[in-house]
Amino acid sequence: MGTSLKPDLFQGFSKLSREQRFARLFEMGAVTREDIQFLNEGGIKDFSLAENFIENVIGYFQLPLGVATNFVIDGVEMVIPMAVEETSIIAAASKTAKWIREHGEITTKSLGHLIIGQIQIAKVQNFEKFASLVEYHQQSLINEANRQVSKNMVERGGGVKEIQIRRIPRGDGEDMAILHVLADPCDAMGANIMNQVCEFLKTPIEEITGEKVTMCILSNLVDTKLTQAQVRLRGLDPELCVRIQEASLFAQQDPYRAATNNKGVLNGIDPILIATGNDWRAVEAGIHAYAARSGQYRSITKWQYINEELVGTFIAPLVVGTVGGVTKLHPTAQICLNMLNVENASQLSRVMAAVGLVQNLGALRALTTVGIIEGHMKLHIKNLTLGAGASEDEQAYVQGKLEEILKLKKRISLHNAVEVLNELRSRNVFSK
Ligand code: HMG
Repeated sequence: MGTSLKPDLFQGFSKLSREQRFARLFEMGAVTREDIQFLNEGGIKDFSLAENFIENVIGYFQLPLGVATNFVIDGVEMVIPMAVEETSIIAAASKTAKWIREHGEITTKSLGHLIIGQIQIAKVQNFEKFASLVEYHQQSLINEANRQVSKNMVERGGGVKEIQIRRIPRGDGEDMAILHVLADPCDAMGANIMNQVCEFLKTPIEEITGEKVTMCILSNLVDTKLTQAQVRLRGLDPELCVRIQEASLFAQQDPYRAATNNKGVLNGIDPILIATGNDWRAVEAGIHAYAARSGQYRSITKWQYINEELVGTFIAPLVVGTVGGVTKLHPTAQICLNMLNVENASQLSRVMAAVGLVQNLGALRALTTVGIIEGHMKLHIKNLTLGAGASEDEQAYVQGKLEEILKLKKRISLHNAVEVLNELRSRNVFSK
């Protein structure tokens, strides 16, 4: 996992030009000359590829692609590709990763490896009989599914492993029977194969039990395949650590805060999902459902100040693939996967968990000290300068003036940018 990076190659990365960034990434071994040429030429142009992905194609929608720097995950230096439209996400991730590498470490692990497919019997006639028949035939159902549908997955060491039986009251006095088919998808996200397995099992289950299957589909609440990331920091200001702990408690106890906290975590995860061609809707749905598993929506991260260490933990389902679907077909996704240099899907999900947790720490650090506006607006100044219509020659002056206004008034708007620009232009007219 990761590239053979030298730490000083990250130094001052954010202040480089795009050409210089490419040169550094090349030196790190994170991109090839072909990757640089492809990205410089504007990326994917081939419409036949789009026609294969979706329907009624009319073009491509392009997002900015950047890299977060300074990450050392499980002791390995990494460059993190992120496709995202929001100012300050990549800066905050890079800055926080730099802080962590100076004061501690990031570790990750996978908890479980099975994904879930669901088969519904909407109105089970006799639950006990149904359950005992499925139990009795479980192994032959698994064997048949593995032989007929998931043969390749079995050859790679995965395949269907178990069938669990659940009873859910319908609310009208009767019961639903739900089967959970558990399978190891190896390095695929597994949605397609799981749906095929469940649909294949429909007929044998109906024949064995005499019950009627209503529908089959995978579940995105994959609590059988969780990913954990942990950050440990030492030697920090105790007051700051306590503030971060308090902010974390707020997000654990209050769903209104939890939603915003988790949005901040997903600021780190979604851009990597998109950059690597993974299904971000599935991961988002799974993470939010997991966050609400206690009956109350809570934070998926937790920060505690224990024995002079600030310890942060992320645990949630993060089911991704490194093979199959768009991940393999989209050339930019391939460049991003190569940049990460992960060997399998489990490593990819662990990187995402780590970046999500680091992103959360960056936001909490800002929120409990200077507030979010300062850094966000510092970066947003560029957008305001361009939005006001400043030419290349005028940009440095307008940006400098806006930074002064932000420092003084703690807020800034497009109106300020227009005023500064008008003032500069009127001065230039008079000085001619
Ligand atoms: P700063 O201290 O002014 O930055 O922070 P700096 O200029 O001193 O640079 C320090 C390092 O930061 C750089 O090191 C970079 O790693 C990074 P260097 O490369 O120089 O060796 N950095 C940048 N990287 C790329 N491009 C840049 C850049 N600038 C700095 N332009 C910063 C400025 C914005 C990083 C800081 O104020 C910060 O972290 N703020 C938090 C911003 C944030 O969290 N944004 C997320 C979006 S807000 C949101 O939606 C989530 C939220 O609601 C979640 C929640 O409520 O929990 C807040």
